[in-house]
Amino acid sequence: MISFFRKLGPIGAVLLLALNAHADGYEPDLQIGEEINYVCAGCHGEFAQGSKNGEYPRLAAQPADYLERQLLLFRERKRPNIPMLEHIQEQQMPASELKDVSAYIASIELPNKLPPIDESTYNPLERLFLAKKTINIPRAEGDIETGRRQYQKECGSCHGRTGEGDDKYNVPMLSGQYTEYLWRQVEKFREGILIHDPDDPEFRLLSLFTDKELQDMFAWLSVADD
Ligand code: HEC
Ligand code: HEC
Repeated sequence: MISFFRKLGPIGAVLLLALNAHADGYEPDLQIGEEINYVCAGCHGEFAQGSKNGEYPRLAAQPADYLERQLLLFRERKRPNIPMLEHIQEQQMPASELKDVSAYIASIELPNKLPPIDESTYNPLERLFLAKKTINIPRAEGDIETGRRQYQKECGSCHGRTGEGDDKYNVPMLSGQYTEYLWRQVEKFREGILIHDPDDPEFRLLSLFTDKELQDMFAWLSVADD
């Protein structure tokens, strides 16, 4: 790689890097993204952590292009979402702002554990703040070992070995997402309301598995983020 850059010379290398980073030439503005996120926070929480009952999904640290794609699907009514529609109409949110907010939310990292309490520096407010930001999905019912094997065989190649998602291919994380929310999406995929693989829209992958099989996979995913 280094010798390749040398051959290009400094200007060529910079151009190449710029092209790689932003194929469409737009550099998202994280500050604008943070401001837009105040609107989203009303439902998804200030750190885009979602709500514990899975009513509102966690968005933090999902791939930016995945988030943007969902916003476009909502806007075009290809994916139903009445509560969000008014917030993402084109007049209110031009294409550049969809990118800004998606990039900002993708950059939010949420810890999965609270650090041990240190009596000498203990600050209750800071602790409360951290607790709000910490997500660890509660252990979901099901057989973890069976779920792990099946998950890795059937889902891991796209969603990552431990369900962490894939930024490069815009595949969402599954571990770290609320189990109730995942189930709601499973129903939509099975009914064809949501498309799992845009390259092969007729193929309903999740209809090939029984509820018990998915329950085991979700049990494994619920501990994979520990
Ligand atoms: C009025 C409440 C509300 C507001 C405000 C809101 N959302 Fe949502 N959002 C929802 C609900 C409800 C869902 C889940 C829909 C479903 O079950 O498919 C959702 C789902 C999503 C998803 C899909 C996540 C996934 O992995 O499937 C994304 C992305 C998203 N919202 C982004 C945003 C952004 C960005 C904003 C701010 C511009 C925002 N939302 C504002 C209610 C809201
Ligand atoms: C070929 C790659 C691929 C495989 C294999 C795959 N997925 Fe997916 N999955 C995706 C992509 C891509 C999306 C996002 C679709 C979109 O952009 O709307 C997704 C979305 C999902 C979602 C919705 C997540 C959310 O936040 O809304 C769930 C749930 C899911 N997959 C479960 C599974 C399970 C369980 C398996 C294994 C049985 C599996 N997937 C196998 C590519 C894959």
